[in-house]
Amino acid sequence: VIAEKSRTASADFVVVANRLPVDLERTADGSRRWTASPGGLVSALEPFLRSRKGAWVGWPGVPDVDVDEFDDDGLVLHPVSLTSDDVRDYYEGFSNATLWPLYHDVVERPVFDRSWWEAYVRVNRRFAEASAKVAAEGATVWIQDYQLQLVPAMLRELRPDLRIGFFLHIPFPPVELFMQMPWRTEIVRGLVGADLVGFHRPGGAQNFLWLARQLAGLESSRGAVGIRTRPGLMQVGDRTVRVGAFPISIDAIGLDKLAKTKGVAERAAQLRRDLGNPKKVLLGVDRLDYTKGIDLRLQALHELLHEGRVRPEDVTFVQLATPSRERVEHYQRMRGDIEQMVGRINGEFARVGHPVVHYLHQSVNRTELAAFFSAADVMVVTPLRDGMNLVCKEYVACRHDLGGSLVLSEFAGAAAELTSALLVNPHDLDGVKNALETAITLDPAEGRRRMRAMRRQVLTHDVDRWARSFLQALGAEPAD
Ligand code: ADP
Ligand code: G6P
Repeated sequence: VIAEKSRTASADFVVVANRLPVDLERTADGSRRWTASPGGLVSALEPFLRSRKGAWVGWPGVPDVDVDEFDDDGLVLHPVSLTSDDVRDYYEGFSNATLWPLYHDVVERPVFDRSWWEAYVRVNRRFAEASAKVAAEGATVWIQDYQLQLVPAMLRELRPDLRIGFFLHIPFPPVELFMQMPWRTEIVRGLVGADLVGFHRPGGAQNFLWLARQLAGLESSRGAVGIRTRPGLMQVGDRTVRVGAFPISIDAIGLDKLAKTKGVAERAAQLRRDLGNPKKVLLGVDRLDYTKGIDLRLQALHELLHEGRVRPEDVTFVQLATPSRERVEHYQRMRGDIEQMVGRINGEFARVGHPVVHYLHQSVNRTELAAFFSAADVMVVTPLRDGMNLVCKEYVACRHDLGGSLVLSEFAGAAAELTSALLVNPHDLDGVKNALETAITLDPAEGRRRMRAMRRQVLTHDVDRWARSFLQALGAEPAD
């Protein structure tokens, strides 16, 4: 137990995530600046946490720097340092070349490396120690995602007085796949250190309950877990651990408001003009990740163009792809493949000044993103597996005009909520082609009907509701 004196701060509400909501960037002239961190976890949690004025423990995004804690507009950030070796073995290695592919249905082959596991244990301990210093007596600590699955048990050992929640932002895999993990029992034991373990979907929660019985011999309930209700229960010593399903969402009202501003509407019109006023603008927005199915949407488009079912003068496809995990081999290979396909489609079907595919390996800001969403007739979201996928919800939140249609993979968590999207099995290329063609030619009245239904869902199930329902189940907040 950490001595009272050595605590540097005393926050009542602490979020712990691998990344801080801001990334330290070293610019060419050697100066430093903070930029927004990539990914859905930060998109979802940041607006919520800012409204609460909590503390956030995380890595500043670059190796070998020591940064003191600082106040960022009411949010206190507590940086945890990682060395270059930690980044290689814990972040790029165990987190993103072992856990990420294993939990995403083994879309790529996970690498099991004992020295990466050792780094994972070491860095998880560092996060647990940093959190133990920041949290006030009896505070609530909310640990996030697959990079930190050992932190709940490690933190409980250091600070038994805390209320500890854990949420997994990516899918929890089928039991047969999880069983491949050499350190499967250690991971289960790490997670049950929490008072509440949360997943996006009831299926993930049920898989976890089964594994805890099999691997750790824990007694647990067998009934069906509900969405935000009926969590599973597990006995861990004298503690009862809850296991539930809490589908994450976005700051829907904020985005709806932003999309209604004149600036966004004008920028959307400008984007369409810049693209040469095509009849239909198709859009993809993703981190450049092999789980997102960017390659197969390009392949579907390529075949549709070849077969003459889509005319190159009628459509423009814009793919925004945030650079991601660029030193991991799986990512390097996929980037090469995608860039080759973009070149091939444009090589065959572009005219001078009119590429069919506009590929931007860049991140854009929120306003620009809202303008892209507003300008797109068809939003293409085709992951092979995705815990939730926030991009499709953001698109819906931006379409107050009820325009646009959404092609959405059945294998995104969001498909369970956005049932009025054009749902596709991303492994079925003909199915994806048919859905794209349907979206391009969709009757506007039918499109509005679908969009209205999706907006009802997204606007009433926003990130605040997600966070509140989790914290209520954790007992950290009174019930409604
Ligand atoms: P993941 O967390 O796997 O990256 P999500 O769809 O859940 O996937 O969240 C991605 C987040 O990153 C969304 O908020 C999305 O708007 C944002 N994003 C993705 N690509 C870009 C981009 N090129 N520019 C700006 N934001 C992006
Ligand atoms: C997903 C993960 C997050 C992660 C984000 C960006 O959303 O669930 O934990 O932060 O991707 O990935 P990165 O590796 O850049 O942090």
